[in-house]
Amino acid sequence: MPSHDPLLQPFRLKHVTLRNRVVSTSHEPAYAEDGMPKDRYRLYHHEKAVGGVGLTMIGGSAVVSPDSPPAFGNLLLYRDEIVPWLRRLADDVHEAGAAVMCQVTHLGRRTSNFTGDWLPLVHPSPLREPAHRSVPKVAEAWDLDRIVADYASAAQRCRDAGLDGIELQSYGHLFDAFHSPATNRDQDPFGGGFEERTAFPRRVVQAVRAAVGPDFVVGLRMSMDEDSADGLGREEALRALGLYVGDGVDFLSVIRGSIGSDATLARVIPSMGTPSAPFLDFAGEIRRATSVPVMHASRISDVATARHAIREGLLDLVGMTRPQMADPHLVAKVAAGEEDRIRPCVGANYCLDAIYRSGEATCIHNAATGREQTLLHVQPAAPRRRRAVVVGAGPAGLEAARVLGERGHQVVLLEAADHPGGQVRLASASVRRRDLIGIVDWRVSEAKHHGVDLRCGTWADVATVLAEEPDVVVVATGGLPDPTFGGEGEHLVLDTWDVMSGAVHPQGRVLVYDDHGAEPALDATELLAARGALVELVTPERMLAPDVGSMNSPAYLRAFAEHDVTLTLARRLVGVRREGGGLVARLGSGYTDLVVERHVDHVVVEHGTLPNDELYHELVPLSSNRGAVDHPALLGVRPQPVAPDAAGTFQLFRIGDAVTSRNIHAAVYDALRLCSAV
Ligand SMILES: Cc1cc2nc3c(=O)[nH]c(=O)nc-3n(C[C@H](O)[C@H](O)[C@H](O)COP(=O)(O)O)c2cc1C
Ligand code: SF4
Repeated sequence: MPSHDPLLQPFRLKHVTLRNRVVSTSHEPAYAEDGMPKDRYRLYHHEKAVGGVGLTMIGGSAVVSPDSPPAFGNLLLYRDEIVPWLRRLADDVHEAGAAVMCQVTHLGRRTSNFTGDWLPLVHPSPLREPAHRSVPKVAEAWDLDRIVADYASAAQRCRDAGLDGIELQSYGHLFDAFHSPATNRDQDPFGGGFEERTAFPRRVVQAVRAAVGPDFVVGLRMSMDEDSADGLGREEALRALGLYVGDGVDFLSVIRGSIGSDATLARVIPSMGTPSAPFLDFAGEIRRATSVPVMHASRISDVATARHAIREGLLDLVGMTRPQMADPHLVAKVAAGEEDRIRPCVGANYCLDAIYRSGEATCIHNAATGREQTLLHVQPAAPRRRRAVVVGAGPAGLEAARVLGERGHQVVLLEAADHPGGQVRLASASVRRRDLIGIVDWRVSEAKHHGVDLRCGTWADVATVLAEEPDVVVVATGGLPDPTFGGEGEHLVLDTWDVMSGAVHPQGRVLVYDDHGAEPALDATELLAARGALVELVTPERMLAPDVGSMNSPAYLRAFAEHDVTLTLARRLVGVRREGGGLVARLGSGYTDLVVERHVDHVVVEHGTLPNDELYHELVPLSSNRGAVDHPALLGVRPQPVAPDAAGTFQLFRIGDAVTSRNIHAAVYDALRLCSAV
């Protein structure tokens, strides 16, 4: 029976019929190898196609010229060798029923002068971009001639490869740098009035259209209001769009804002703790003012909002990009009436920060995303049903129980606390980051769906575990805070768990010492400062929280600025002593012998966790594998070998922070690849 769901209605984009209204908008996951969309890249998009998406857009910021070197693993569209790779990807996506297009761009100054072919970056003005810090060369006429030609040949390669279309990127890159009065000023060689500023972008559109012919879809992803005093405003943007449509643009993907700094980019791609779909109404207004079909993505994270956008005619096509990184089968679940089983995008923006930190976009709580070569998004039934006991219902234990349950095993999940979640529950105590609890809630719901027996408030010792007569035991007991700093007075300090759990409410002058570099110290600082404490955040690092990336740091920095938190870099806590009614914190430095003192009321130390591994070590001698993990089998997602002469009756594994202090993604990845093969 045909569906009446607005999201599932087909849409005709020029000659291309999309099977539904849901799009994965252009994004670069940094999965390219040698600048090519090889197997990893292809399988990532193929999974979304299998999962029901109408249109998947590849090649976020795929580059047209060598003087636009990749900033984060972008595809090299200026190389002919890309065509067969694109063709294979397109064929596979088509076979799975989806359409596929590629974003095409010249990054301008939004990359590095010190990478790729080391050609100087070009821009209409000599202005430096705050985010990438590169100083560009002012473009000359010959630069524009060759770049226009490069755009045209890149577009032609996409067409030759059998893609359904392309999209030109026009926010924060070279194309829009010309039409924006903020980056192409009166005094710049190609600046001046509206006509001067739109001349280069128009040449690009015209050359691309001429190269691909009339029957190929050419879209434009454009900031329709740069939201800055000197930037492109809505009226001029609409005027420019009208020209580009006349020159050959077939659809518009609406962006609002600009991306030149971490702060503005974080507004364009909003994270948790911000309103849902902040620019949807704006996109709807733009749709009413233009003649071409309109798509838009920006934190339309839930199906109800996406459906509303289509039903109310705000959009023709709705982008759900991070939501399909979290769950590439989102559309299939909608079609199957299983919306409640969609793995939620919690807006952690771990995916974006991971591009720079680990060189690949990974979802905080879907470890299979981007790893389709080895991991499945849907678990097949295991060949033999086994009895499994998982100890600890933090992210690692919940994921283990969920996966084992999905594979059809009989699973008991034991949790000492009254509620599941472990450190994720603690982190979600931050009002701004409370959506993190979706990581826990979804797993609890899925685990129950698969018949997992979750027992909270159950302290597991060896006898409790053995009473279940398990074949497999997974210890996911997490870590415990380690507030050591290696100096006098460790007994005088608090840890960040004390603060986040609400066990203590430090007031007055608080020194937070972060020798970990991730979110916990920042969360504790934000919470303390919001409650009125006068906080100084001290780190021995040369930058603040190096493991918190540019998409997550803006919200912390805003909170710190609003609450006047003092930030102190390159200082190491070397001692704490009592004095009067308070404490004296002694701050040394790795760079000098000079020690300074701070008179405070409390010191809070964040230093990661130490494994809570007592139970594991007690179980090791009783197990058949002594807790050993065969790494080749783990990495190949093959069953762990069973020792033929082993006396123990169960296999024993340890995952997550029970092994060592890491993060949520590491915890779920540990669990997924181990349990997928049980
Ligand atoms: C890992 C990642 C990389 C991205 N790279 C690009 C890009 O290269 N070009 C682009 O136009 N948008 C890029 N985006 C933005 C997405 O296309 C989309 O606009 C954004 O994620 C907001 O939509 P969502 O809330 O549905 O995820 C990227 C997003 C992510 C998560
Ligand atoms: S990392 Fe966070 S924002 Fe990114 S896809 Fe996963 S849940 Fe969504």
